[in-house]
Formats: sequence, structure tokens, C-alpha cells
Amino acid sequence: MSTILPSSVPIARPESDPRGSRRLRSVGILGTGTNVPTRVLSNADLEKMVDTSDEWIRERTGMVERRIASDDQATSDLATAAGRRALENAGMAPEDLQLIIVATATPDTSFPPTACYVQHGLGATNAAGFDVTVACTSFINGLMTAEGLIASGTFENALLIGAEKLSSIVNYEDRNTCVLFGDGAGAMLLGADQGHGEIIGHVAGVDGSRADVIICKAGGSRLPSTPETVASKDHFMHMEGRKVFKFAVQVVSNSVEEILAKNGYKIEDLDLLVPHQANLRIIESATARIGIDPSKVAVNIEKYGNTSSASIPLAIEDAIQSGQLREGHLVCLVAFGGGLSWGATLLRW
Ligand code: ACO
Repeated sequence: MSTILPSSVPIARPESDPRGSRRLRSVGILGTGTNVPTRVLSNADLEKMVDTSDEWIRERTGMVERRIASDDQATSDLATAAGRRALENAGMAPEDLQLIIVATATPDTSFPPTACYVQHGLGATNAAGFDVTVACTSFINGLMTAEGLIASGTFENALLIGAEKLSSIVNYEDRNTCVLFGDGAGAMLLGADQGHGEIIGHVAGVDGSRADVIICKAGGSRLPSTPETVASKDHFMHMEGRKVFKFAVQVVSNSVEEILAKNGYKIEDLDLLVPHQANLRIIESATARIGIDPSKVAVNIEKYGNTSSASIPLAIEDAIQSGQLREGHLVCLVAFGGGLSWGATLLRW
């Protein structure tokens, strides 16, 4: 028996948290918004930069173009614009915002957190803020954090923004990586007991024994930036693509199956799967393993490439615009990335 619940029926939750009498509240989605840079980097442009071809990129990745931020645009600029749209979409004034979480692997500065620049840019004078950084799984981890903090009563609302300027850590002389990544931002405003739908649950994990598979080696405390690290290009992203591919197919299918089982649903109950947009072949292989109808899978990789933390909210926005995502839908978001890391969120839209 499948257990499809209409969106008005609250999901069963514990009456109180284990620490005492505080009730856990349900958390809904109040608004969404996105922002991408205007500059387009096409496969044809990349053909002029490295030894690659439009045919190779389309066949091996499904990507056609991606957006690249200008030199004077930082991650927080993209994030602030996306966040502002989500607030407008929800009809919320910036000063009513209580928490800003920026999910990113490319912060403006190592500190202060990018969320502080966004707070200032939005004029969210009453908001707390911090960054969540788990490579391409940052948006799922940010959602998990935001939901927990609202459910516990710590905050009434939270603006989660997945935002990246990946072009700042991509080596445009390395054809193995430079064709894959783009810049962008997508925001989701969450609130207690008053939004559309409800966040149902999450699963997440990391495997630090495989940290070297996708890594920016230099610029942190292990290997601070020096003229030598710049010369050896160790401040750029390095990736073992085939290893990531195999890992991704496995964790995407496992995470979806796990989160559905954990919450009493079957694959047939899902109305939409929104996977991290890293490679069309990863999405096709993983979804074939799960056995979900391709019409129920959100794909916009051809437009933006891999935008890491921004890829899921950007895919959500396109699914809303196309009518693929509608109120009441049971939706699974699933991501994977450096860490190695993975995670999924199940929600009622
Ligand atoms: N153009 C032309 N040829 C290329 C290019 C390119 N852009 N890139 C690699 N090649 C070549 C390789 O050099 C190799 O040549 P060789 O056989 O002479 O050595 C050949 O193509 C095949 O290389 P593979 O690595 O086997 O190609 P594959 O089919 O695996 O595709 C890719 C490579 C696209 C990187 C794929 O492995 C992939 O998508 N992996 C997952 C990457 C990913 O998801 N990364 C994001 C993680 S999220 C995060 O946290 C950042």
C-alpha cells in the first residue's frame, strides 16, 4: 500500500523533542527565487579554449552552455539577488527575516561568511547568518539545518541560498573540469507552519577517506596559498571524474531508496525527483536503477552545467516554470559531491 498524503494532512512527527517539552513544528516553503549571471559560456566557446568539442561535451555530460559571473561579481552578489527574489515571491520584508544560510563551496572570503554580505545586501537587519559548506551537497545540508532550527523554535523563518562562483576555482586550461561548471544562485524561503507543503525528512552522509577525489588543495590551513601553490594551480579544483561518476550513480539511487523507505513511501509515490545536475549520464543511470519514469525527473543541465550548491534550486525553479512541479507534489531532492558527500530531502510541495 502506498501512503500518498494530501498536502493538507500534517506528517506524523514526535510531539516533543527528546530534551523536554518543546514541540517540533512542521516547516513549509514560503517562496523561491533564482539569479544567474548574464554571460553565457557555450560549448563552442570552450572549443576555442581547450582541446574539446561540442559533440564530446553534449554526449558525455548533456551540457550545452553555462553562465559565468563577471570579474566584479562575487558569490554573495548572485546570492543576494536570488534571496531578494525569494523574499518578494513570498511577500516578506527583509527586516522580518530571522536567519540566512548560504550553501556554498565558493564563499566571497574565508571569513566573514558569505551570509553576512547577503544580510547587508538584503537589508535583513534582524537576521542571523552563517554558511554551510559540503561541496555540491551543501544545499541539502543547508535545508536540513534550516528545517531543524525552525522546527525547534529557534527561528520562525530562514532564507536558504545555494550560490556559487565556481568559475573562480576552475582551471580553464584543464578540459577535464572546465567544461563542467557554471555560476548561479537559487533561494528557498522556509517558515514555520505557514508555507506551502512541508519538509518531510532528510538523509545525509560523508566519506572523508575519499576527500582527495574532488578537492581544492591550496588556500586552506593545510596548504596556505603561496606563489608555489599558485604556480602549481593547487588553488583550482582537481577531480577524478570516473571515480565521482561511479560513486554518484550509487549514492543517488541509494539515497532516494533510503529516504522513501524511511518515510513510508514507494518510488511510485514520487511526483518529482530533483537530482544535483552534474552529468546527464549520472542522472539517467541512477534514475534507471531506481526505476522512476524519466518524465518525473527535473533536468536543466543543458542550460547551466554543474552549479554545485545552486543546481537543485535552479532545477526547482525551472520545474515550477514548466509546470513539472506543482502544489501538493511529493518531491525528492538528491545531491552528491566533494567530501565525498551525499544527501537527500523529501518534501511535500
Ligand atoms: N573534451 C574532450 N575529451 C575529454 C574531455 C573534454 N572536455 N575531458 C576528458 N576528455 C577525455 C579524457 O582525457 C579521456 O581521454 P583518454 O581516454 O585519451 O585518456 C577521455 O575523454 C575519456 O575520459 P573519461 O574520464 O573516461 O570520460 P568520462 O566519460 O568519464 O567523462 C566526466 C568524464 C564528464 C568528467 C565524467 O567522468 C563525470 O561527469 N564524472 C562526474 C563528475 C562530477 O559529477 N563532478 C561533480 C562532483 S560535485 C562537486 O562537489 C564539485
